[in-house]
Amino acid sequence: MKIKSKLIAALIALLLFGCINMAPEKLDENPEQPGCTPQFPDMNVTYNNYVKKIITRYCITCHQGGNSPGPGNFSTYNGVRIYADFFAVRVIQDRADMPQGNAPLPKYVRDSLNIWINNCSPEN
Ligand code: HEC
Repeated sequence: MKIKSKLIAALIALLLFGCINMAPEKLDENPEQPGCTPQFPDMNVTYNNYVKKIITRYCITCHQGGNSPGPGNFSTYNGVRIYADFFAVRVIQDRADMPQGNAPLPKYVRDSLNIWINNCSPEN
């Protein structure tokens, strides 16, 4: 009887421990940006499937490092991502001033960039 109850206690402990271990660990956080939770988890806008194309078309002439007039180098994912915090004001809002000297990007493009930013600017 004594051995049996010890065994049951051990089994319960194992079960509890197992469950704790299996608890999902903040699955919804972006590993590249700890603390950021994607706001539109069903929307798949990534650097590689969308943002890169937009940056190449509208921004890279001025943001490619070296002697280019704009800051940063937007030719890589990390180069763009470190400026992501500025996008809301400079690129996405209706009175955005980027691309410099031009009208703001088409609304649907800005909406897509907004989703990318609010999903923690994923690469893939
Ligand atoms: C004609 C050149 C030109 C183009 C095209 C251009 N930019 Fe810029 N951008 C600049 C310059 C110059 C600055 C720095 C002066 C300033 O902040 O206004 C700047 C600043 C910025 C900043 C602020 C950086 C900071 O440190 O505050 C962001 C963000 C930005 N650009 C994003 C973009 C994006 C995204 C595009 C494409 C949609 C783009 N730019 C297109 C010239 C350009």
